[in-house]
Amino acid sequence: MSLLEVDDVVVQFGGVTAVNHASFAAHAGRITGLIGPNGAGKTTCFNVISGLQRPTRGKVRFDGRGVTRLPVHRRSKRGMGRTFQRLEAFGSLSVRENVRVAFDIHRGPIGWIRPSSADVDALLERVGIASYAGERADSIPTGTARLLELARCLAGQPKLLLLDEPSSGLDETETDAFGELLQELAAEGRAILMVEHDMDLVMGVCDDIHVLDFGSVIASGPPSLIRSDPAVQQAYLGYSDVEDAADSADSADSADDPATVTQVLPVVHEEVR
Ligand SMILES: Nc1ncnc2c1ncn2[C@@H]1O[C@H](COP(=O)(O)OP(=O)(O)OP(=O)(O)O)[C@@H](O)[C@H]1O
Ligand SMILES: [Mg+2]
Repeated sequence: MSLLEVDDVVVQFGGVTAVNHASFAAHAGRITGLIGPNGAGKTTCFNVISGLQRPTRGKVRFDGRGVTRLPVHRRSKRGMGRTFQRLEAFGSLSVRENVRVAFDIHRGPIGWIRPSSADVDALLERVGIASYAGERADSIPTGTARLLELARCLAGQPKLLLLDEPSSGLDETETDAFGELLQELAAEGRAILMVEHDMDLVMGVCDDIHVLDFGSVIASGPPSLIRSDPAVQQAYLGYSDVEDAADSADSADSADDPATVTQVLPVVHEEVR
């Protein structure tokens, strides 16, 4: 059974339909990607799942129960953890203090269950930012701050991790290490639902992928199917067959923007070569 089920969710902002009858699921022990072009509705879906945005219609089920009307903190208590596209750490606190506060929030204000320094430091070590422990959160690089967000989220021992663009700001080596960490976290039984624009990471670590375009799920499946799905190529690149892709790749190169093809859908790039 799915840990998370998003069922026929619609979100309208005035005349804008940000999410349009979207249904998808995430499972314990698996990494699920939620991808799509800018403005496709990915963050809005996360807001609906985590309780920041009431859907116009549709339902969210988590761990076997309907949570559509539950406030954010009660979803958090039931095991949802989230990181944000815009960083949310406490800038004037150190990296270590930020994680300590996250432990405190989740364990409650009872003195005798305060986290030990060992708990905090073990978590910093796990996400690979122990060397930044004493630095102020507003002075660390963006990629490190994203890992700090992940550590803060893990402090709540979530069953479901909702990660909104977690790898932006990480270099290639850091992204590889991050991908391995995600796979470990999933192998320990957590469900991970990740919004991400780095297609090498998405295609490399996700077990299942759902593609949103203009608020609708246009494709769902394993990476091998998503890579070659014409509707997905159309949504990202504006063309749906490989010959057109080659033409567009040439013009992208000449426009000094080869990243369009290489970063967005690696399979198209490979076929072009
Ligand atoms: N609070 C809001 N009020 C009005 N429109 C909104 C609001 N939040 C999002 N939108 C609109 O809803 C659509 C979906 O936005 P959303 O932020 O969910 O996209 P996204 O897929 O996360 O994009 P990105 O990849 O750029 O982060 C966009 O057209 C956006 O302008
Ligand atoms: Mg977004």
